[in-house]
Amino acid sequence: MQSKGPFVIVSTVVGIASAQIFGNSTTSAPTTTPTSEPVPWNVTHYGGQVNITNNLALTPPMGWSSWNNYGPDINETVVRDTIDAMDRLGLKDAGYIYVNIDDGWQRYKGSRGEHPLEYDPVKFPNGIKAVADYAHSKGFKLGIYSGPGDTTCAGYTGSEAHADDDAKLFASWGVDHLKYDSCCSHHDEPQAVVQQVMLDMSTALISTNRSVVFHACHCGWANVWEWAAEEGANQWRIGQDISDDFNYPGNREKYYFDVLDMLDRGNEVAQYTGPGHWNDYDMLIVGLDGESKQLVGTGLSDLEYRTHFSLWALAASPLLIGANVNKLSPYNLATLTNKEIIAVNQDPLGQSITMQWSSPDNKTQIYAKGMKDESMVIALLNRGTETASITVDMRAHLTVPWDVYRMRDLWKGKDKGPYDIPFTTEVQAHEAKVYQIWQVACTVGC
Ligand code: GAL
Repeated sequence: MQSKGPFVIVSTVVGIASAQIFGNSTTSAPTTTPTSEPVPWNVTHYGGQVNITNNLALTPPMGWSSWNNYGPDINETVVRDTIDAMDRLGLKDAGYIYVNIDDGWQRYKGSRGEHPLEYDPVKFPNGIKAVADYAHSKGFKLGIYSGPGDTTCAGYTGSEAHADDDAKLFASWGVDHLKYDSCCSHHDEPQAVVQQVMLDMSTALISTNRSVVFHACHCGWANVWEWAAEEGANQWRIGQDISDDFNYPGNREKYYFDVLDMLDRGNEVAQYTGPGHWNDYDMLIVGLDGESKQLVGTGLSDLEYRTHFSLWALAASPLLIGANVNKLSPYNLATLTNKEIIAVNQDPLGQSITMQWSSPDNKTQIYAKGMKDESMVIALLNRGTETASITVDMRAHLTVPWDVYRMRDLWKGKDKGPYDIPFTTEVQAHEAKVYQIWQVACTVGC
């Protein structure tokens, strides 16, 4: 095994022969000119298959994405203004570093066979590299969007059959994150085809020798959580696009997921998330207020947006703000910048909450996850429309023998306890109360 640094290609699970994917080229160093600090990589082949780790995104990526508010109506001014505002509003200091340009930056609509992939010179008169340089100068990272299809979801020229060319192009611009979207182009393709096109781009990015976080976006289809990590993806969507709804009956327009749909899907696939490879619950809707140019939905109350944010954070989802940051209310800004909730999201153990208990009518639920410091973080969720009381019993609900424990309410910033009896609290309709809990004493079964 060559040992050159953080990129590692090892072992086997993907189910696609390495010869087909890599040929001999994976055993030699990348040939493209490095566009950032060189990022060396290692390769091991055995068993005819591969497992790639790019050693990026060891905690969930945090930042902003253009799509949820602007759709394809995006340009250089919007991106620069967003960078300035994120800096000014303390979002960068809170950890929101990635500024991701989603679909709509491309010059041409229509087939890649008929058009090259170029930036739109009207929307981006100084080019993407100038925007990346600006982002970097302010301490941010820049993300961009493409897909393995002939066209992207919004009908712009895609990367089909050009993964290597486009990876080099993005690296030459100084891009740090790629959302590679197969939702529309590959919806009906067999899983093996989706695996192959994602692997093509993952390896193409690694070959550029630039650190580019890779989002294999397949809208929660083809069991993407089962194989994307082994292909070197750092995140993948667990569901269809989010709408600006907390709990819409069924799927809005028979497609969109609301906050609770995403929570329920995530609960089923929580085991697949971890450092470097994250279940992505889709971009945040906090602050859209039902007024997005792009997303459907009628908006959430302040408290519901806070619940949504808590659930995404505790699920270790990437946290990509989707709103116009200049229009965030003080309450929503406080939601997005709560340091203690963000610390739970960024915990190095990288666990997701899972449901530990549900009331028989499924209105009240307890979710929990472990933390690196051996504490636990819980969310007490009221999905119902009336205030409800929730009781937490350490042994019965959380299966830990903590007879005496102390807690901290992470939204109130207040310590509670120690307690040696079950803890009961009132939870408002659509509220999630979030507590971190530490063991103080254990007497039996410790
Ligand atoms: C969808 C994707 C959205 C957005 C859009 C761009 O497939 O789920 O998040 O990227 O494409 O056209």
